[in-house]
Amino acid sequence: MPDLVAVEEERELSSWELAKLELNWGRGDPVNIGWNLSDRICRQGLGQTKALIWEGFGGQERVFTYEDLRVLSNTMAAFLARQGIAPGERVCLFMDRIPELYIGFLGILKLGAVAQPLFSAFGEESLATRLLDAGTSAILTQKKYLPRIRRIRAELPALRHVIVADAEASALQQGETPLHLDSEPRVEDFPVYPAGPETPSVLHYTSGTTGQPKGAQHVHRSLLSQYLTARRVLDLQPGDIYWCNADPGWVTGTSYGIIGPWSAGVTQVVLDAGFNVDRWYSFIEKHRVTVWYSAPTAIRLLMKEGKTPAARHDLSSLRHLASVGEPLNPEAVHWSREVFGRPFHDTYWQTETGCIVITNLPGMPIKAGSMGKPFPGITAAILDMRTFEPVALPGRVGLIGLAPGWPSMIVGYRNNPEGYAKKFASGWYLTGDRGTVDADGYYWFVGRDDDVINTGGHLVGPFEVESALLEHPAVAESAAVAKPDPVNMEVVKAFVTLKPGYEASSDLELEIMNFVRKKLSPIAMPQDISFVTSLPRTRSGKIMRRVLRAQEWGEPVGDLSTLMED
Ligand code: WT7
Repeated sequence: MPDLVAVEEERELSSWELAKLELNWGRGDPVNIGWNLSDRICRQGLGQTKALIWEGFGGQERVFTYEDLRVLSNTMAAFLARQGIAPGERVCLFMDRIPELYIGFLGILKLGAVAQPLFSAFGEESLATRLLDAGTSAILTQKKYLPRIRRIRAELPALRHVIVADAEASALQQGETPLHLDSEPRVEDFPVYPAGPETPSVLHYTSGTTGQPKGAQHVHRSLLSQYLTARRVLDLQPGDIYWCNADPGWVTGTSYGIIGPWSAGVTQVVLDAGFNVDRWYSFIEKHRVTVWYSAPTAIRLLMKEGKTPAARHDLSSLRHLASVGEPLNPEAVHWSREVFGRPFHDTYWQTETGCIVITNLPGMPIKAGSMGKPFPGITAAILDMRTFEPVALPGRVGLIGLAPGWPSMIVGYRNNPEGYAKKFASGWYLTGDRGTVDADGYYWFVGRDDDVINTGGHLVGPFEVESALLEHPAVAESAAVAKPDPVNMEVVKAFVTLKPGYEASSDLELEIMNFVRKKLSPIAMPQDISFVTSLPRTRSGKIMRRVLRAQEWGEPVGDLSTLMED
């Protein structure tokens, strides 16, 4: 990015000002993200450019131009308005990666409501917790998820509307509304809600160590940094065919699976099917994908299959590769150079940051295993663990801190101002991760500074798993920690003590696993349960997850007597 740096130095134009210039921001055009991803692109003459090529599990295809996206998101917004949904209300998207999810997201934003995407594999409890905390008014879903919603609806007084994208009215109960986008009257012009930069846009739930998941509140201003990083980090250019593997239930799937790419006017391809090596390579080959944003777990799955499957496909369309979510191991970088002729570029960020903050920019020399350098416009530092002041020496481990104030930073955790306040110290935003910086300014990820489990790039809160375990009739006490895994890096492992009258057995283990899977999700399900007679506790009775974790990783436990202090 030499031109960007030169612009910054010579004309003192910051990155975010550059984004404003390119988006014509602040000169009378709407700020609303929904408008910016569709109407603005059409105005630029790209109305007939394909915005979305969608491929379903069975190979069926649906294609939408930017003009389709513009009109259909208007139609969606008008439909929601007719239901009585008002600006500011939370509308949950609980569905597979079907076109209605993407169009629904834009429609919700055009209406001025808040999009709350939730992973469709979430079980009742994961779903209920997040809908209750958000006071969600409406949920947009598919027929197959209705049983789950019906079972929890009585607990959710705020939930007025259940809108079903693929059901006939005859299959629905009272309070459930069918939506058929194709037969709705097409709305050419919709009065897009006049969002300001601080108007809430997207609400993502993210897991912490303690308590229930936190609702990370994004605002419309986020577009500035999501656009600029999509252009400069993911290298999205006119004519690109872009594939992002992430589900919009997670922040990667909204920031870079909707907002970033569509604000840049490129064609997105979406594959609504799980991992399969030949299917994935065929997909790249068929659509001539040029830019691919993936994750280390997916890359490790590809690596496991060896180099032969890649040789069976023409993958020469790929121009740029990037990865996010977990540490990208050096072997994955070397392997992709060999197999795809180019390295995966690591990108580091979080639900809270909304955009990539530390990364390897295209063309920058990559040090395999390093996350790269702060994106121009982001100030990062390694902070002393106690004083929160930047450490001086290269190579010293500390907390990764960021100077607050970039456009896509969240404005708070919903209903949890204390939790948000704890994320700041000495003027820095604390990521909760540990790292080092070397003499060349490259950042290296060391580990999380909390007990949150990162399984295949998805964060799982131990508290949520432990609470679900405690609801099983056999479980007396529980602890959930990360266990090493060759593909997912970490998986959930549970330690439980049983109530009197229950015997440990592999049947009971399977039953408890299933119990958690149904309540939470397949991701949060413990892959291993150890039945123990007691759990290590601090003097005040708090379970010492760190001791259990250290055992799993074969790491030294440390001085138990100090660990036992709270
Ligand atoms: C946490 C954030 C932002 C989309 C991903 C999930 C870990 C993220 C990297 C990376 C090592 C990474 C961190 C971070 N993480 N990217 N490139 N190298 N670790 O967002 O669910 O909020 O998770 O994922 O621990 O704090 P998220």
